Parts: sequence; C-alpha cells; structure tokens
Amino acid sequence: MEQYIRKNGGKATILDLGCGEALNFARLLSTCPRIRYVGIEPSEESCRKARHNLQGLPTTIIHANAYTAYEQLKEKFDLVVSFSTFEHVYRRLSYLEAAKHCLKEDGYFLINYDAGHFLQGKEWLKNMVGPLLANLGIERYFQAFIREEEFLALVKKAGFEVMEAKSFNTRLKEVYKIIPASKQPAFMEKWLEFEVWLNSLGIGYNDGMAPVFGTRNFILKHKSR
Ligand SMILES: C[S@@+](CC[C@H](N)C(=O)[O-])C[C@H]1O[C@@H](n2cnc3c(N)ncnc32)[C@H](O)[C@@H]1O
Repeated sequence: MEQYIRKNGGKATILDLGCGEALNFARLLSTCPRIRYVGIEPSEESCRKARHNLQGLPTTIIHANAYTAYEQLKEKFDLVVSFSTFEHVYRRLSYLEAAKHCLKEDGYFLINYDAGHFLQGKEWLKNMVGPLLANLGIERYFQAFIREEEFLALVKKAGFEVMEAKSFNTRLKEVYKIIPASKQPAFMEKWLEFEVWLNSLGIGYNDGMAPVFGTRNFILKHKSR
C-alpha cells in the first residue's frame, strides 16, 4: 500500500472489507491526508469503535456486510483490502465478486486471511457451530479453513489474477509481546524483513503449512482479457 500511495503522490482511495475497528488504518490515514478511506463492517459495535478510532480523518464507515458493497457505494476504488476477514466469510464467491465490482480497472485487491490460528485450542467449538448457524442464515459466527486450491479456484471464478502470493506470521512474530515497548518497532521491521526473506527462498505453500505460516497474503488484480 505504501508503495502504491507514494507512487500516486500520496493520493489513493481505499475500501476496507470487514474493517473491524479500523485499527490497521489510523496511523496511515493520519500521516497521509490525501487518502480517502471507506470501511465496511457488519458488526455495529465494531463500526462504532472504528468511527471513534478514525475521528477527524476523511473516512466513512458503513454498517453492512461486504456482499452488497457496490450497491451501497456505487464507487470504484484504487485499492480494495481485506485483512483477516475472509476466513470468517460464509459466501466466499459473492465476497470476491463484490471486491471485483468495487475495484478500478488498474487497481489492486490486497487480501490476507488467517490460515491456521483458529485450528488450535478452544476454537474447535466455533469451527463446528459457526458453519451450522451460517446454514441457518446466521453468518456472524462463521469461520472455516481456506484450502489453497479452493481459494485459487474462487479467485479465478471471480475474475481476478494473482500478482503475488506470500505466507507470513511464523511464530517468531509472537516474540513481539515480550519485547520492551521502545524496542517493538525495530523488532517489527526485522521480523518483516525476515518473513520477506523466507518468502524469497522458494518454499512452495500447501495446506499442511498453515500451522507454520499463520496467514496467506495475496495481491490480486483484474484478469487481463
Ligand atoms: C478478525 S476481524 C478483522 C478486522 C480487521 N480487518 C482487522 O484486520 O483488524 C474479522 C472481521 O470480518 C468481519 N466480517 C465477517 N464476515 C463479513 C462479511 N461477509 N463482510 C464483511 N465483513 C465481514 C467481522 O465482522 C469482523 O469484524
């Protein structure tokens, strides 16, 4: 995002699908006043917190799920982003199609999703109950593992092509929590550098690696005709 924004003279329109409390964007938006940000989020409570977190910035938070984003906004964006949300999305093809509708012809869709974290510990209950409730029309507790093959097939069906695929969030990131606050930014820079380097080694990703790499991260664009 930073690269894109810099290349565009600090200007961009960003649509965040499943923005939650919008904490990913508070700092970026306060340092880049020419960015216009729209977040779309089905939880009313999270929308309220997002509006609070982004107070005074050029932003709009819409209370809705992402399937109807284009109908609600009637606007196309330079960047559409979806962070740690897709694993909670029940109607996955509709969600990707909504992202495609909202993306400018030369824009980018940045999507990452948690690959493995919810497979461990107490999450098993949500993994069981979420899909059952979603079948009954209550989608908000849904979460399900995203198989690589399934994701790539949906991406193709929705009319996107993959520009970049990476895997991040090895356990090393957890060390962050025990580092003195003043050293945390430096740690995060090193961590990112390390993860980017890991990705350059040519390790082919498969579903079995989900517990090692906590997230899958893609940059998508419209499929070329
Ligand atoms: C783990 S949170 C991530 C929030 C934020 N993107 C972040 O990175 O902090 C997942 C979010 O996805 C939202 N969500 C689930 N299904 C959705 C859908 N169909 N459309 C849009 N948002 C959805 C949830 O309400 C929740 O706020």
